[in-house]
Amino acid sequence: MQKLLVGLDIGTQTIKAVQMSREKNRNQLLAAGYIPTPTKVTSLNSKNSNNDQIMADSINRLVHDMKISTSDVSASLPSANVITRVLELPLMSDSELASSIQWEAEQYIPMPLSKVKLDFTVINRDEQTTKMKLLLIAAPIDLIEKYMHIITLAGLNPTALETEILAASRSITTSFPTLSQAMVISCGATTTEVALLHEQMLVYTKSIPLGGNTLTRAIAEELGFEFPQAEEYKKTYGLDEDKLEGKIAKSIAPYFTSLYSEIEKNIAYFKEQYPKDEITNLTICGGGAKLPGLVLAFTKNLGLDSQISNPFINLTIDPNILPSLSPDAPVYTQAIGLALKDVE
Ligand SMILES: Nc1ncnc2c1ncn2[C@@H]1O[C@H](COP(=O)(O)OP(=O)(O)OP(=O)(O)O)[C@@H](O)[C@H]1O
Ligand SMILES: [Mg+2]
Repeated sequence: MQKLLVGLDIGTQTIKAVQMSREKNRNQLLAAGYIPTPTKVTSLNSKNSNNDQIMADSINRLVHDMKISTSDVSASLPSANVITRVLELPLMSDSELASSIQWEAEQYIPMPLSKVKLDFTVINRDEQTTKMKLLLIAAPIDLIEKYMHIITLAGLNPTALETEILAASRSITTSFPTLSQAMVISCGATTTEVALLHEQMLVYTKSIPLGGNTLTRAIAEELGFEFPQAEEYKKTYGLDEDKLEGKIAKSIAPYFTSLYSEIEKNIAYFKEQYPKDEITNLTICGGGAKLPGLVLAFTKNLGLDSQISNPFINLTIDPNILPSLSPDAPVYTQAIGLALKDVE
Protein backbone atom coordinates (compact mmCIF):
# COMPACT_ATOMS: atom_id res chain seq x y z
CA MET A 1 0.00 0.00 0.00
CA GLN A 2 1.20 3.46 -0.81
CA LYS A 3 1.78 5.90 2.02
CA LEU A 4 2.54 9.59 1.77
CA LEU A 5 4.79 11.13 4.38
CA VAL A 6 6.45 14.50 4.86
CA GLY A 7 9.92 14.71 6.39
CA LEU A 8 10.35 18.06 8.13
CA ASP A 9 13.79 19.10 9.34
CA ILE A 10 13.56 22.26 11.43
CA GLY A 11 17.05 23.71 11.64
CA THR A 12 18.26 26.87 13.34
CA GLN A 13 19.05 28.39 9.95
CA THR A 14 16.82 26.60 7.45
CA ILE A 15 13.64 24.52 7.51
CA LYS A 16 13.78 21.68 5.02
CA ALA A 17 10.83 19.57 3.87
CA VAL A 18 10.38 16.63 1.52
CA GLN A 19 7.32 14.66 0.53
CA MET A 20 7.80 10.98 -0.13
CA SER A 21 5.52 8.30 -1.46
CA ARG A 22 6.36 5.02 0.28
CA GLU A 23 5.65 1.59 -1.09
CA LYS A 24 7.13 -1.79 -0.25
CA ASN A 25 10.08 -1.67 -2.65
CA ARG A 26 9.85 1.85 -3.88
CA ASN A 27 10.41 5.17 -2.21
CA GLN A 28 9.57 8.07 -4.43
CA LEU A 29 10.57 11.65 -3.73
CA LEU A 30 7.68 13.83 -4.84
CA ALA A 31 8.78 17.28 -3.69
CA ALA A 32 11.54 19.02 -1.74
CA GLY A 33 12.09 22.57 -0.60
CA TYR A 34 13.54 24.78 2.09
CA ILE A 35 13.15 28.25 3.54
CA PRO A 36 15.14 30.31 6.05
CA THR A 37 14.12 29.71 9.65
CA PRO A 38 12.34 32.92 10.73
CA THR A 39 15.02 35.03 12.35
CA LYS A 40 12.90 35.97 15.35
CA VAL A 41 12.74 32.37 16.43
CA THR A 42 16.26 31.84 17.61
CA SER A 43 15.58 29.45 20.42
CA LEU A 44 13.03 26.72 20.17
CA ASN A 45 13.41 26.26 23.87
CA SER A 46 12.00 29.68 24.60
CA LYS A 47 8.45 29.61 25.87
CA ASN A 48 7.02 32.22 23.55
CA SER A 49 3.79 31.29 21.82
CA ASN A 50 4.15 34.18 19.40
CA ASN A 51 7.39 32.63 18.20
CA ASP A 52 5.63 29.27 17.79
CA GLN A 53 3.08 30.95 15.53
CA ILE A 54 5.79 32.65 13.44
CA MET A 55 7.54 29.30 13.03
CA ALA A 56 4.27 27.54 12.17
CA ASP A 57 3.40 30.19 9.57
CA SER A 58 6.76 29.65 7.84
CA ILE A 59 6.30 25.86 7.81
CA ASN A 60 2.78 26.28 6.49
CA ARG A 61 4.03 28.52 3.67
CA LEU A 62 6.78 26.03 2.77
CA VAL A 63 4.48 23.00 2.51
CA HIS A 64 1.91 25.08 0.67
CA ASP A 65 4.47 26.22 -1.92
CA MET A 66 5.60 22.60 -2.31
CA LYS A 67 1.98 21.58 -2.97
CA ILE A 68 2.21 18.88 -0.34
CA SER A 69 -0.75 16.53 -0.43
CA THR A 70 -0.63 14.86 3.00
CA SER A 71 -0.57 16.32 6.47
CA ASP A 72 1.35 13.41 8.06
CA VAL A 73 4.73 14.64 9.19
CA SER A 74 7.80 13.03 10.65
CA ALA A 75 9.90 15.85 12.10
CA SER A 76 13.36 16.34 13.56
CA LEU A 77 14.30 17.33 17.08
CA PRO A 78 17.58 19.20 17.51
CA SER A 79 20.13 16.58 18.58
CA ALA A 80 21.80 19.10 20.88
CA ASN A 81 18.69 19.16 23.11
CA VAL A 82 18.22 15.40 23.24
CA ILE A 83 20.36 13.05 25.29
CA THR A 84 21.63 10.04 23.34
CA ARG A 85 23.80 7.54 25.22
CA VAL A 86 25.10 4.05 24.73
CA LEU A 87 24.53 1.90 27.85
CA GLU A 88 26.19 -1.39 28.57
CA LEU A 89 24.02 -3.60 30.76
CA PRO A 90 23.92 -7.21 31.93
CA LEU A 91 22.15 -9.40 29.42
CA MET A 92 18.38 -9.37 29.94
CA SER A 93 15.18 -10.10 28.06
CA ASP A 94 13.04 -7.41 26.45
CA SER A 95 10.50 -7.56 29.25
CA GLU A 96 13.20 -7.30 31.96
CA LEU A 97 14.66 -4.38 30.07
CA ALA A 98 11.32 -2.63 29.79
CA SER A 99 10.89 -2.78 33.56
CA SER A 100 14.43 -1.77 34.49
CA ILE A 101 15.21 0.85 31.85
CA GLN A 102 13.93 3.75 33.97
CA TRP A 103 16.22 2.83 36.82
CA GLU A 104 19.21 2.22 34.53
CA ALA A 105 18.60 5.46 32.64
CA GLU A 106 18.45 7.56 35.78
CA GLN A 107 22.23 7.53 36.15
CA TYR A 108 22.76 8.93 32.67
CA ILE A 109 20.09 11.59 32.40
CA PRO A 110 20.96 14.88 34.10
CA MET A 111 17.32 15.83 34.64
CA PRO A 112 14.30 14.33 36.41
CA LEU A 113 12.99 11.32 34.50
CA SER A 114 9.46 12.71 34.84
CA LYS A 115 10.55 15.50 32.48
CA VAL A 116 11.83 13.29 29.65
CA LYS A 117 10.45 10.74 27.23
CA LEU A 118 12.69 7.69 27.09
CA ASP A 119 13.22 5.53 24.06
CA PHE A 120 15.79 2.84 23.38
CA THR A 121 16.99 0.34 20.80
CA VAL A 122 19.10 -2.71 21.55
CA ILE A 123 22.41 -2.48 19.66
CA ASN A 124 23.54 -6.03 20.44
CA ARG A 125 23.34 -8.88 22.92
CA ASP A 126 26.58 -10.72 23.59
CA GLU A 127 26.02 -14.19 25.06
CA GLN A 128 29.75 -14.68 25.67
CA THR A 129 30.31 -11.63 27.83
CA THR A 130 26.68 -11.77 29.10
CA LYS A 131 26.40 -8.08 28.35
CA MET A 132 24.20 -6.06 26.06
CA LYS A 133 24.46 -2.60 24.55
CA LEU A 134 21.62 -0.27 23.95
CA LEU A 135 21.13 3.19 22.59
CA LEU A 136 19.14 5.29 24.99
CA ILE A 137 17.41 8.43 23.81
CA ALA A 138 15.86 10.89 26.26
CA ALA A 139 13.97 13.83 24.81
CA PRO A 140 12.69 16.58 27.13
CA ILE A 141 8.88 16.50 27.23
CA ASP A 142 8.81 20.34 26.97
CA LEU A 143 10.71 20.15 23.72
CA ILE A 144 8.44 17.43 22.30
CA GLU A 145 5.34 19.41 23.24
CA LYS A 146 6.74 22.55 21.68
CA TYR A 147 7.45 20.80 18.39
CA MET A 148 4.06 19.05 18.37
CA HIS A 149 2.43 22.42 19.00
CA ILE A 150 4.31 24.19 16.18
CA ILE A 151 3.57 21.40 13.68
CA THR A 152 -0.10 21.31 14.64
CA LEU A 153 -0.31 25.11 14.38
CA ALA A 154 1.12 24.74 10.88
CA GLY A 155 -1.95 22.63 10.01
CA LEU A 156 -0.02 19.36 9.94
CA ASN A 157 -0.23 16.09 11.80
CA PRO A 158 2.95 15.09 13.69
CA THR A 159 3.29 11.29 13.43
CA ALA A 160 6.89 10.94 14.64
CA LEU A 161 9.73 12.96 16.13
CA GLU A 162 13.34 11.89 16.22
CA THR A 163 16.78 13.46 16.32
CA GLU A 164 18.39 14.85 13.21
CA ILE A 165 21.34 12.48 13.45
CA LEU A 166 19.16 9.35 13.61
CA ALA A 167 17.31 10.56 10.54
CA ALA A 168 20.58 11.35 8.73
CA SER A 169 21.94 7.88 9.53
CA ARG A 170 18.82 6.20 8.13
CA SER A 171 19.11 8.16 4.90
CA ILE A 172 22.83 7.39 4.55
CA THR A 173 22.38 3.66 5.12
CA THR A 174 19.55 3.67 2.55
CA SER A 175 21.71 5.33 -0.08
CA PHE A 176 24.81 3.28 0.74
CA PRO A 177 23.46 -0.14 1.82
CA THR A 178 26.85 -1.82 1.55
CA LEU A 179 28.41 0.62 4.00
CA SER A 180 28.53 -1.50 7.12
CA GLN A 181 30.83 0.52 9.36
CA ALA A 182 30.82 4.28 8.86
CA MET A 183 31.14 7.67 10.41
CA VAL A 184 28.54 10.33 9.72
CA ILE A 185 29.17 14.02 10.23
CA SER A 186 26.23 16.35 10.12
CA CYS A 187 27.28 19.98 9.70
CA GLY A 188 24.51 22.40 10.62
CA ALA A 189 24.60 26.13 11.26
CA THR A 190 24.95 25.86 15.04
CA THR A 191 25.69 22.19 15.68
CA THR A 192 28.08 19.59 14.30
CA GLU A 193 27.08 16.06 15.05
CA VAL A 194 29.32 13.01 14.80
CA ALA A 195 27.83 9.52 14.62
CA LEU A 196 29.27 6.03 14.35
CA LEU A 197 27.47 3.25 12.52
CA HIS A 198 28.22 -0.40 13.13
CA GLU A 199 26.47 -2.90 10.88
CA GLN A 200 24.34 0.03 9.78
CA MET A 201 23.14 0.78 13.32
CA LEU A 202 23.82 3.99 15.12
CA VAL A 203 26.09 2.99 18.01
CA TYR A 204 27.44 6.33 19.17
CA THR A 205 26.71 9.99 18.70
CA LYS A 206 28.20 13.22 19.93
CA SER A 207 26.87 16.71 19.49
CA ILE A 208 29.36 19.59 19.27
CA PRO A 209 27.96 23.10 19.79
CA LEU A 210 29.87 24.59 16.85
CA GLY A 211 28.80 24.81 13.23
CA GLY A 212 28.66 26.84 10.03
CA ASN A 213 27.93 30.03 11.97
CA THR A 214 31.14 29.50 13.93
CA LEU A 215 33.08 29.49 10.65
CA THR A 216 31.31 32.59 9.35
CA ARG A 217 31.94 34.47 12.61
CA ALA A 218 35.63 33.53 12.51
CA ILE A 219 35.94 34.85 8.93
CA ALA A 220 34.04 38.03 9.85
CA GLU A 221 36.38 38.70 12.77
CA GLU A 222 39.59 37.85 10.96
CA LEU A 223 38.80 39.93 7.87
CA GLY A 224 36.65 42.67 9.43
CA PHE A 225 33.56 41.69 7.43
CA GLU A 226 29.88 41.86 8.31
CA PHE A 227 28.28 38.41 8.81
CA PRO A 228 26.50 38.21 5.39
CA GLN A 229 29.69 39.10 3.52
CA ALA A 230 31.71 36.58 5.54
CA GLU A 231 29.04 33.96 4.74
CA GLU A 232 29.52 34.61 1.00
CA TYR A 233 33.31 34.36 1.27
CA LYS A 234 32.97 31.13 3.20
CA LYS A 235 30.72 29.60 0.54
CA THR A 236 32.97 30.78 -2.30
CA TYR A 237 36.45 30.00 -0.98
CA GLY A 238 36.01 27.61 1.93
CA LEU A 239 39.18 25.68 2.67
CA ASP A 240 40.91 26.67 -0.58
CA GLU A 241 44.37 27.85 0.47
CA ASP A 242 45.15 29.35 -2.92
CA LYS A 243 42.49 32.03 -2.63
CA LEU A 244 42.92 35.36 -0.82
CA GLU A 245 46.36 34.23 0.37
CA GLY A 246 44.63 31.43 2.24
CA LYS A 247 43.12 33.93 4.71
CA ILE A 248 39.66 32.33 4.71
CA ALA A 249 41.05 28.81 5.14
CA LYS A 250 43.34 30.03 7.93
CA SER A 251 40.60 31.78 9.87
CA ILE A 252 38.45 28.62 9.98
CA ALA A 253 41.33 26.22 10.64
CA PRO A 254 40.90 26.13 14.47
CA TYR A 255 37.36 24.74 14.11
CA PHE A 256 38.69 21.90 11.96
CA THR A 257 41.60 21.19 14.30
CA SER A 258 39.16 20.63 17.17
CA LEU A 259 36.77 18.65 14.95
CA TYR A 260 39.58 16.35 13.77
CA SER A 261 40.66 15.69 17.33
CA GLU A 262 37.04 14.87 18.31
CA ILE A 263 36.74 12.54 15.31
CA GLU A 264 39.97 10.79 16.20
CA LYS A 265 38.69 10.21 19.74
CA ASN A 266 35.53 8.69 18.27
CA ILE A 267 37.51 6.40 16.00
CA ALA A 268 39.56 5.27 18.98
CA TYR A 269 36.32 4.54 20.87
CA PHE A 270 35.04 2.50 17.94
CA LYS A 271 38.29 0.48 17.78
CA GLU A 272 38.02 -0.29 21.46
CA GLN A 273 34.37 -1.36 21.20
CA TYR A 274 34.59 -3.24 17.92
CA PRO A 275 38.20 -4.44 17.56
CA LYS A 276 37.34 -6.70 14.62
CA ASP A 277 35.88 -3.91 12.52
CA GLU A 278 37.25 -0.71 11.15
CA ILE A 279 35.81 2.63 10.17
CA THR A 280 37.16 3.55 6.77
CA ASN A 281 34.39 5.72 5.45
CA LEU A 282 33.08 9.14 6.35
CA THR A 283 29.89 10.67 4.96
CA ILE A 284 29.19 14.36 5.48
CA CYS A 285 25.71 15.88 5.39
CA GLY A 286 23.94 19.15 6.24
CA GLY A 287 24.48 22.56 4.65
CA GLY A 288 28.06 22.74 5.95
CA ALA A 289 28.95 19.72 3.77
CA LYS A 290 28.95 22.10 0.82
CA LEU A 291 32.01 23.99 2.08
CA PRO A 292 34.52 24.05 -0.81
CA GLY A 293 37.48 21.74 -0.13
CA LEU A 294 35.85 19.93 2.78
CA VAL A 295 35.97 16.39 1.38
CA LEU A 296 39.60 16.76 0.38
CA ALA A 297 40.52 18.15 3.82
CA PHE A 298 38.77 15.30 5.67
CA THR A 299 40.35 12.68 3.44
CA LYS A 300 43.82 14.22 3.84
CA ASN A 301 43.71 14.87 7.58
CA LEU A 302 41.85 11.77 8.74
CA GLY A 303 42.85 9.17 6.19
CA LEU A 304 39.18 8.22 5.80
CA ASP A 305 37.48 7.75 2.47
CA SER A 306 35.22 10.82 2.64
CA GLN A 307 32.16 11.73 0.62
CA ILE A 308 29.26 14.16 0.64
CA SER A 309 25.98 12.40 1.30
CA ASN A 310 23.63 11.88 -1.60
CA PRO A 311 20.23 10.96 -0.16
CA PHE A 312 18.70 10.78 -3.65
CA ILE A 313 20.48 7.50 -4.41
CA ASN A 314 18.05 4.56 -4.26
CA LEU A 315 15.00 6.81 -4.42
CA THR A 316 12.76 7.20 -7.42
CA ILE A 317 12.79 10.85 -8.49
CA ASP A 318 11.15 12.65 -11.35
CA PRO A 319 14.06 13.41 -13.75
CA ASN A 320 12.59 16.87 -14.23
CA ILE A 321 13.12 17.88 -10.59
CA LEU A 322 16.41 16.05 -9.90
CA PRO A 323 18.84 18.55 -11.54
CA SER A 324 17.47 21.47 -9.53
CA LEU A 325 17.68 19.52 -6.26
CA SER A 326 21.09 17.90 -6.75
CA PRO A 327 23.26 20.83 -5.58
CA ASP A 328 21.41 20.67 -2.25
CA ALA A 329 21.58 16.89 -1.86
CA PRO A 330 23.45 16.96 1.51
CA VAL A 331 21.03 19.57 2.88
CA TYR A 332 18.07 17.22 2.39
CA THR A 333 19.69 14.18 4.04
CA GLN A 334 17.91 14.57 7.41
CA ALA A 335 14.50 15.42 5.88
CA ILE A 336 14.70 12.37 3.61
CA GLY A 337 15.73 10.16 6.52
CA LEU A 338 12.67 11.41 8.42
CA ALA A 339 10.38 10.62 5.50
CA LEU A 340 11.90 7.12 5.34
CA LYS A 341 11.02 6.42 8.95
CA ASP A 342 8.56 3.60 9.54
CA VAL A 343 5.43 5.07 11.03
CA GLU A 344 2.05 3.48 11.75
N1 LIG B 1 28.07 26.31 -0.10
C1 LIG B 1 28.26 26.32 1.21
N2 LIG B 1 29.51 26.35 1.73
C2 LIG B 1 29.70 26.38 3.07
N3 LIG B 1 28.73 26.39 3.98
C3 LIG B 1 27.47 26.37 3.50
C4 LIG B 1 27.16 26.33 2.12
N4 LIG B 1 25.82 26.31 1.99
C5 LIG B 1 25.30 26.34 3.24
N5 LIG B 1 26.29 26.37 4.14
C6 LIG B 1 26.18 26.47 5.60
O1 LIG B 1 25.34 25.47 6.08
C7 LIG B 1 24.72 25.91 7.30
C8 LIG B 1 23.24 25.66 7.20
O2 LIG B 1 23.07 24.26 7.04
P1 LIG B 1 21.76 23.53 7.53
O3 LIG B 1 20.59 24.07 6.79
O4 LIG B 1 22.02 22.08 7.45
O5 LIG B 1 21.71 24.06 9.03
P2 LIG B 1 20.53 23.94 10.10
O6 LIG B 1 19.93 22.60 9.97
O7 LIG B 1 19.60 25.10 9.93
O8 LIG B 1 21.38 24.10 11.43
P3 LIG B 1 21.38 23.22 12.77
O9 LIG B 1 21.18 21.80 12.37
O10 LIG B 1 22.71 23.48 13.38
O11 LIG B 1 20.23 23.77 13.57
C9 LIG B 1 25.03 27.39 7.43
O12 LIG B 1 26.06 27.59 8.37
C10 LIG B 1 25.52 27.76 6.03
O13 LIG B 1 26.47 28.80 6.04
MG1 LIG C 1 20.20 20.80 10.92
